[in-house]
Amino acid sequence: MAARAPSVQNAALGSHYVVHLAAPDDFAFWRERARALIQCDVPPDRVSWVEPGGTDDLFAVGGPSRIPVADGGAAPVRVSKRFMKLARNAALHSDPERFALLYRMLWRLQSNSRAMEDKADADVRRIEELDKSVRRDSHKMHAFVRFREVETDDGEYYVAWFEPDHHIVRANAGFFMRRFANMKWSILTPRGCIHWDGKVMRESGPADRSDAPQDDPVEELWKSYYASIFNPARLKVGAMMAEMPKKYWKNMPEAELIPELIAGAQAREAGMVAAGEREARELPATLKAISSAIHTCRDCAIADCGTRAVMGRGASGAALMIVGEQPGDQEDVQGLPFVGPAGQLLDQYLAQAGIDRSAAYITNAVKHFKFRAKGKRRIHHSPTAKEIDTCRWWLEAERVVVKPRVVLALGASAARGLLGKTVSISKARGAAIALDDGAELWVTAHPSYLLRLEGAARDEQAALFVRDLSAVKTRLSQMRA
Ligand code: URA
Repeated sequence: MAARAPSVQNAALGSHYVVHLAAPDDFAFWRERARALIQCDVPPDRVSWVEPGGTDDLFAVGGPSRIPVADGGAAPVRVSKRFMKLARNAALHSDPERFALLYRMLWRLQSNSRAMEDKADADVRRIEELDKSVRRDSHKMHAFVRFREVETDDGEYYVAWFEPDHHIVRANAGFFMRRFANMKWSILTPRGCIHWDGKVMRESGPADRSDAPQDDPVEELWKSYYASIFNPARLKVGAMMAEMPKKYWKNMPEAELIPELIAGAQAREAGMVAAGEREARELPATLKAISSAIHTCRDCAIADCGTRAVMGRGASGAALMIVGEQPGDQEDVQGLPFVGPAGQLLDQYLAQAGIDRSAAYITNAVKHFKFRAKGKRRIHHSPTAKEIDTCRWWLEAERVVVKPRVVLALGASAARGLLGKTVSISKARGAAIALDDGAELWVTAHPSYLLRLEGAARDEQAALFVRDLSAVKTRLSQMRA
C-alpha cells in the first residue's frame, strides 16, 4: 500500500503547494501537513493534495521545495473533537477530493470553531456522508470476509478475498488480528493486502481475484451455518440486497443458497442480514438510552421470557466491568443484576479479593431471564449461543459507554458474549485476553457453579475463583499506579 515517501512541494514560488501523500489512507500525514499549512496561513485554494498514482494539478511544476515553516508565534490550530472523529474516517474514502475537503473544513474552523455544528452546511454534510460510507464499508468487511483454507508447508493457512469500496484495509487490520489471533491468514484485496502469521502483521500491494483460492471444505460449514440462520418469518429481500450487495456474493459460499432460500420462502429473512442491519445502526450512546432500548428489544426468542430486561448497574467510566450470564429469578423480579444467591456469593468473594463491587459496572451477557416453569418455580435455563450472540450488541454498547479497562467474565456464556466464540474456562482463566478496544478480559467460573458444588470440590473451586479475582484486583491496582 505504501508507494513513496511523503513530500511537499512548493511548486510556484510560494503561491501553491502540492502535498503528495505516501498512501491513500495516510491520515496522520495529512494532519501533520494540514497543521503546518494552516499555521502558515495557506488558504485551501492554494493547496493540492495528491494521492499515490494521482496526477499533480496544473500548478505542480518546478523542483521540490519545502513546506513553509510557521514562526514560533503562530497561533495553534483549532480543531473540534467532532471534526477529528469524522475526518479520520472520511480520509479513508475513495473520493479523490476528500483531503481537499478536510483541509477546507479545517481552514474554516479557524475562524468559526462551531462550523461543524451547522448540519445544513454542504461541507459538513459531505464529510458526514464520507464517514458514513466508510463505516458501512468496514462493517461489510467485518461481516463478509470469508476465509478459505489452503495447505502450506507450515500447515493450515487461510486466505480471503474482499473488494472494499474505500481505503479501509489497513484501518481494519486490528479487528481481524484480534478476531483471528490464533490463525495464520491473508486478506487479499485490490486496494492492498494484509497478512497475519500469528505474531506479526504485514502488508503488501494490491492483489487480483485470481490470487485467492476459490473453494474448499470450509465452505460447507458456511453453507450449513447460513441455512441454519435463515429465519422463515421475516424476509425483506430489499434489505437483504442492501446489506449483502451482489458484488460480495461471489466471495461467499453461502450466497449460492440465497436464490433457493428466497424462492422457497417468500416470508424468510436472513438472521445474518438482521444482525447486519442492527450493526449498521448507531449504538445507543448512554446507559440510559441502552436501558430504554433493551426493554423494547425483541430480537431473540427469549425476549418475552420473564418480567423485564435487566440492565447492567454501575457508572460509566468504571474501571472494572463484571459480566454474568443472564438475570436469575430474583434479578428478574427486582430488575437488578446479581441480587439473588449467586450475587450474594459473588459479593462475598469480591470482598475477599478486595474488590469494591459498588465501584464496578455489573451486567449480564443476556438481558432476559430464560427459564422453564415447574409448578410455581422458575427453573433457570442456559441461553443458547445464538441468544448470547444476539444480545452481544447490547453488551458491546455498554462497553463502549462504560469503557472499562478490565472486564471480568463470569462463566462461559459471559466469555462468549465478550469474545463472540466459546472458550473453555479452565484454559482461558489465569491470563488476560486483549479485547478489541484494548481493555483486558479476565475469565473465571460463574458463582452459580460454586453454589452447585459441595465439600472439597467447592473449596478447591472457590480457591481458584478467589485467585482469579485477586489477579483482577492486582491488574486494577497496577493500572491505577
Ligand atoms: N447469574 C447471572 O449470571 N447474573 C445475574 O444477574 C444473576 C445470576
